Amino acid sequence: MFEKNAHTQTAIMDALAQRWSGRAYDSDRPVEREKLLSMLEAARWAPSCFGYQPWRLMVWDRREDFQTWHRAFDCLAESNRAWACHAPLLMLACADTSFADGRPNRWCHYDTGAAVMSLSTQATALGLMVHQMGGFDAKKIRSEFAIPESFDCLAMITVGYQLPQDQIPEEFLERELSPRSRRDLAESFFEGTWGQPIK
Ligand SMILES: Cc1cc2nc3c(=O)[nH]c(=O)nc-3n(C[C@H](O)[C@H](O)[C@H](O)COP(=O)(O)O)c2cc1C
Repeated sequence: MFEKNAHTQTAIMDALAQRWSGRAYDSDRPVEREKLLSMLEAARWAPSCFGYQPWRLMVWDRREDFQTWHRAFDCLAESNRAWACHAPLLMLACADTSFADGRPNRWCHYDTGAAVMSLSTQATALGLMVHQMGGFDAKKIRSEFAIPESFDCLAMITVGYQLPQDQIPEEFLERELSPRSRRDLAESFFEGTWGQPIK
């Protein structure tokens, strides 16, 4: 991946600094199965409330089964389809909204986000690019793949290798090269009382 590292205020781990959500995928370069399994393994070891592991991920590999991949791809918003068509892998992250005894699990989304972040960090360390998307038709994908009502469909995710910078099509280039930014540390992180910026 070409570097688009976070400009951090304090040093952080390489894989965290290097992760970013690019859109220019190399459609000719498949993701090795062992790398996919390594990403899923990273997600598997995420922390969760009561160790309940509410996440479920579906994976579609464009090369392995184009037709099924296409059914999932068709659930994406048009703006996402424009670039996600080049990513070799598509995923869906779902969360089990209740515990085994039927009580609602109000941490299921929190836990599933943590698992996907672990997956993304592992992917970055393996030289892969992950892009999460809220822009998809959750109702459609639920019915297309018979996802039980007790699971929330949270995000679709693309995974693949990035195109070398000199091969990125003109229409993607500006967005791919645009700088990344974040709120200042003190705007989001408080100490002692609400709104009191961390020093
Ligand atoms: C839950 C979630 C939903 C997102 N939905 C979309 C989306 O539908 N389309 C898109 O292009 N990017 C989407 N993104 C990517 C964000 O825009 C991106 O993470 C954010 O701008 C920060 O950029 P960075 O990941 O490169 O640091 C989504 C990210 C998350 C975590």
